[in-house]
Amino acid sequence: MIADMILTHFNQIFCPNDPGHPLRGPEMKTAEIISDGYIAIKDGLVLAVGSGEPDASLIGPHTVMHSYEGKIATPGLIDCHTHLVYGGSREHEFAKKLAGVSYLDILAQGGGILSTVKATREATFDTLYQKSKKLLDYMLLHGATTVEAKSGYGLNWETEKRQLDVVAALDKDHPIDLVSTFMAAHAIPEEYKGNSQDYLDHIVEEMLPAVKEGNLAEFCDIFCEKNVFTAEEAHYLLSKAKAMGFKLRIHADEIASIGGVDVAAELGATSAEHLMMATDEGIAKMSEAKVIGNLLPATTFSLMEDTYAPARKMIEKGMAITLSTDSNPGSCPTANMQFAMQLGCFMMGLTPIEVLNAVTINAAYSVNRQERVGSLTIGKEADIAIFDAPNIDYPLYFFATNLIHQVYKKGKLIVDQGRIL
Ligand code: NIG
Ligand code: FE
Repeated sequence: MIADMILTHFNQIFCPNDPGHPLRGPEMKTAEIISDGYIAIKDGLVLAVGSGEPDASLIGPHTVMHSYEGKIATPGLIDCHTHLVYGGSREHEFAKKLAGVSYLDILAQGGGILSTVKATREATFDTLYQKSKKLLDYMLLHGATTVEAKSGYGLNWETEKRQLDVVAALDKDHPIDLVSTFMAAHAIPEEYKGNSQDYLDHIVEEMLPAVKEGNLAEFCDIFCEKNVFTAEEAHYLLSKAKAMGFKLRIHADEIASIGGVDVAAELGATSAEHLMMATDEGIAKMSEAKVIGNLLPATTFSLMEDTYAPARKMIEKGMAITLSTDSNPGSCPTANMQFAMQLGCFMMGLTPIEVLNAVTINAAYSVNRQERVGSLTIGKEADIAIFDAPNIDYPLYFFATNLIHQVYKKGKLIVDQGRIL
């Protein structure tokens, strides 16, 4: 078949394997790395990937060729945990944080998530849309082509819906593809203080059916944490959500280990997220239940904690892991996947191949987009991140600098040398 376009002579192309399930344990160490590689594209899809001069059968009179000596290509990065849509920002809490006040203490004083809830409730659709669009632009400029986005700064139907509507609108308007997660159980709103069960009932009885009805989210998530929602409460909400056809994610073992991981394993959640405090027992359960461990090292960095999620142990015990930014105004104000990836190497001891698998094929599985993206398998969408790097180790080693040269989305050039086209 004749290609529309062929990208040739990459120093290396990182091609994750897609065995039909997320890469687990030792599988995370494997990948095909093609030297002097090319990627042929037709109708926005990957047509062929190979080494050296592209096969003559791929080239017709209208085939466009671009050469990429000195560069590498990977599948577009997938950021599978973000709190994309919010009002305001929280730099006013930064001084407190630097003075040593903890994240949960700031929240208990009515700050933290609750201060963003106030700002989000006050923000119009248009304000939220423009702010989120700007964040998505940053993400795209740093190589992300698919992004998961959670609600959870409304904590009432009107504002949660506004957040979900912004995600749906940006999914249409922005080149990045979005995956929507409903997370009204992100904190207990002031109106329900001391009354979390009533709030959960309100979510279950009023909000979840409306989200389903409007097809506004694919996943349901909850913040299972000390002083937020207990494991029993997480089990209650997520089992109801599961019965209604939602796929599940859960914020678990972030600051304290209180049983969120058990809930994830028991209910077959797609993914458990954060896991800084994961125990050996929890890891064994997640491994057994095939729950993906979604690790967010930039949050650990930003919370100025010493303990990163035990990624090495998870891989040794056979888990599949992903990495993502957790982009949010409080615990992780960044939009740079490369930084999260670099911390995966520097602070968690992952290898570059493990990190690249985590943010491509495994992340695709974690957001249920494995049929379309996450690898350069023939027939998948041609989402490609091109780095100004001589080999695949380099973007993990040369840190805190945006090394993205270009980004293709569905076969179309959308970022070129720091500019969105
Ligand atoms: O993943 N942990 C809960 N949610 C976010 C933080 C949100 C916020 O602080 O605004 C997180 O870290
Ligand atoms: Fe989060």
